[in-house]
Amino acid sequence: MHFLLVGPGALGCLLSSIVNNGLAVTGDRLTLLDYNADRAEYLTRQGIVYQQGDTGKTVSVTATSDPKHLEHVDVILLCVKSYDVAASLAFCGPLLTETTLVVFLQNGISHLSMHDHLGRAAAAFGTTTEGATLLGRGHVRHAGSGVTYLGFLDSPNDHSAFLLKKTQTLFATGGLQVETTGSILARIWAKLFINVGINALTATLACKNGQLLTLPGVDERMQTAVNEAMLVARAEGVEAMDDPYLATRIVCSKTSENVSSMLQDVRNRRRTEIEAINGAIVAKGLNYGIKTPENSRLCRQVKDIEAGYTVP
Ligand code: PAF
Repeated sequence: MHFLLVGPGALGCLLSSIVNNGLAVTGDRLTLLDYNADRAEYLTRQGIVYQQGDTGKTVSVTATSDPKHLEHVDVILLCVKSYDVAASLAFCGPLLTETTLVVFLQNGISHLSMHDHLGRAAAAFGTTTEGATLLGRGHVRHAGSGVTYLGFLDSPNDHSAFLLKKTQTLFATGGLQVETTGSILARIWAKLFINVGINALTATLACKNGQLLTLPGVDERMQTAVNEAMLVARAEGVEAMDDPYLATRIVCSKTSENVSSMLQDVRNRRRTEIEAINGAIVAKGLNYGIKTPENSRLCRQVKDIEAGYTVP
């Protein structure tokens, strides 16, 4: 099987490193696709540095920036940021055949409506609680182990189901804790609730995840943001799997020393995923006539920060 991982950011580098452990056992092949030709060339030459604690190891990878010259790809692991999904699928255009499965691995929920961009390919979705921090080009720190869930939103055909099973096997052989689930939508929302409660607050307050539990007045804002998201989820017909506010507090304390992905983006003056997280709650709230003032406030604050980025 030929796997193609698109987007060598934090999650992409982490998955590439881990999946690489499994390739020799499963006999599969992994190629990285990066629109940035310089970086693709760099990754092929230098490999990816996977760091856990103080120990690092270099993992050899093959990266390309030219999808036209790739042999048939069975599974595309789409690890780009949510706002890059449409452009990345267009870039992968020639590879989106009726026997290809695209596995979406974004934060938030805006990628769930990308069917029009899939060509003839099928879609599966994944969500993970693995912690990854990009320390530099092709250099990732595994900030904490978690669980990865994979599943379909609609009933898959036999071939797509087979490809997702193969993906699970490769991930598991590489060392990930991974499950396929019939409730991927609920899993995606479970992660969304946590991102709604943590990411924008840490980005606007410039604090680590754990500080959200101790800074005055912040816990209340976190609870309000998550509660607004729950009302929207209910209107969408999604029932929460556990208590989302409690789950968010647990993640804050388990990842107390983590710098959230959104704060990492802000610190590096990168575009954030605010639209796919709190912005998606505000947009869906508007559709259903549900008020979401805390999520609106967080969106405004993060967008103000983005608007203030100065050219380095
Ligand atoms: O986006 C992130 O940073 C992570 O999803 C989480 C769970 C908030 C931990 O930092």
